[in-house]
Amino acid sequence: MCGIYGHIKKSSKTNSLNACIDGLKKLEYRGYDSAGVAGIHDGKIVCCKTVGKVVVLERAVKAIKLELSVAIAHTRWATHGKITETNAHPHFDESRSIALVHNGIIENYQKLKTELEENGIEFLSETDTEVISQLISFHYENDISKAIQKTLPLLEGSFAIAFIHKDHPDKIIASSRGCPLAIGICHESHDIFLSSDSNAFTSSKLDVFYLHDDEYAIISHELIEVYNLAGIKLVKQIETLNLENISISKEGFDHFLLKEIHDQPLSISKAIENRLDYANATANFSELTLSDEELQKTNRILILACGSSYHAGCIAKQIFEAYAKIPTEVEIASEFRYKDPIILKNTLILAISQSGETADTLAAVKESKRSNCPVIALCNVKRSSLSRLASSTLWLNAGPEISVCSTKAFTSQLTLLMLLALKIARLKTLSHKEGKKFLFEIERLPAQIADILSKSSEIEKIAKKYAGHKDFFFIGRNYMYPTSLEAALKLKEITYLNATGYPAGEMKHGPIALISKKLVTIALCGNKHTFEKLLSNLMEIKSRGGPIVAFAPKNSSEILSLTNDVIFLSDSISDTFAPITYSICCQLLAYYIAKFLGKDIDQPRNLAKSVTVE
Ligand code: M6R
Repeated sequence: MCGIYGHIKKSSKTNSLNACIDGLKKLEYRGYDSAGVAGIHDGKIVCCKTVGKVVVLERAVKAIKLELSVAIAHTRWATHGKITETNAHPHFDESRSIALVHNGIIENYQKLKTELEENGIEFLSETDTEVISQLISFHYENDISKAIQKTLPLLEGSFAIAFIHKDHPDKIIASSRGCPLAIGICHESHDIFLSSDSNAFTSSKLDVFYLHDDEYAIISHELIEVYNLAGIKLVKQIETLNLENISISKEGFDHFLLKEIHDQPLSISKAIENRLDYANATANFSELTLSDEELQKTNRILILACGSSYHAGCIAKQIFEAYAKIPTEVEIASEFRYKDPIILKNTLILAISQSGETADTLAAVKESKRSNCPVIALCNVKRSSLSRLASSTLWLNAGPEISVCSTKAFTSQLTLLMLLALKIARLKTLSHKEGKKFLFEIERLPAQIADILSKSSEIEKIAKKYAGHKDFFFIGRNYMYPTSLEAALKLKEITYLNATGYPAGEMKHGPIALISKKLVTIALCGNKHTFEKLLSNLMEIKSRGGPIVAFAPKNSSEILSLTNDVIFLSDSISDTFAPITYSICCQLLAYYIAKFLGKDIDQPRNLAKSVTVE
């Protein structure tokens, strides 16, 4: 995983070390276990590495008081080796001629390491990355191109790398395979930037290009040359980027997570803006390149995603089937990629990813593209790798989601999926009247969400009451079942408590054995269609002494006798849209429990916002 960054000064007054720190701060969503930066000073590699977040590195770099005009940097999400300063990047070769940063995984690193050790080379770290710096050095005979041409074919796995060599103090050498790496030249200063993500460039207007698999670039402030493995010089396609200078702020909230939860009336408004077509009782997407005829032909939908995006897909499955009457499959991307998938003709593939950088989702989409079926991506982050792979990308327009825990992106994904279901349903059999009803309901969502947010203090009280418990079940039926999966993920992710989402009717087939005074059941009662059935399931839990907290529609007073605590929500929320409003209740519940427990809410342990390794 991880984020890599580099800077070469041309005419600005910027110290490359500071440029790298600023870049790393924008890449911290890719991991924050440790960070490091390196450059060359007086003919020697200088390096600073720290355990923890980028601010810790920033303090250490300030203390060194060094000016550099070329530097590379890294923020790490540990894969191989413990979270220590030694395992932090950059990594060196034995003679400390090279410093190298890496995003990805070298799958055959152990074999390569053993071979190098047999040649008498000593390793310092436990990482897979160190084999790359050691190998380049091993093959280096005063020709950097040759060394890289000999090294890259030996590597199995994925990588984006950048390195400096003390014999070439004005250069950064970079390469990639299966991991994004963008190189940008600032219009104003002509400084050169290199990053895992072009959105992390700290300049506003740049000419940018991306390295493709097994290409390498030799970059100095005078010249950027890109080659393929055969050593043939390539001409790259350049695009000009005008990066919006979006200021990232908590806007007075204690955490980004709480701010993002409260952003939802606006982010949902943005998701539906200019997409509701009342005249035709349907939804329109200006970005969609697939024609109505192509969509109409769809007789199967395949959804690929991970984590919360997968849960959005599970809810969407039920909506596509109910409204568009199209059999829909949802696949966890990391599982799908190693299956021998059967993708029939006229399948529409939907790839859902907030970041558009999730390695498993990207790999699953690459695999699915062999079917030649169209792929529609749903992404929040512009210019992401997924949007470059898909036939069309529908943008969430939710604004930056900073907290690792997905909230507003998840509900925007749901909103877009609902609109897409409506569009396809209208092309199939859904009536104009039903289509219009759907539009009216979706337009009411921002107000309904504002109503949920006004219940924050009630939810906070419940959170305080139950924060001492260690185990939680979230249960629901119909649309509320996949909603319960997402609710449980929120709680585990930011509180580190044990939480499971389960279909309420399935409890009696095993999990009810776990019910005791200590295990809290959170009942999501937002599905009117199965409400009575859910009540019976709650009765079974109550009879066995399990405490129950419910989120339920206002007119469902029978729930009072079954539960220890209830939060009543508007009863005008229909079953189809309840996954959005009920999810927001669970986001608030998870947030307040995490706050009472004093957890690192925006950057929970062991996680990263964007999971760029498989
Ligand atoms: O960027 P993506 O939507 O592809 O990310 C997928 C998951 O990694 C992500 O949803 C993860 O589960 C979140 N941390 C959940 O809050």
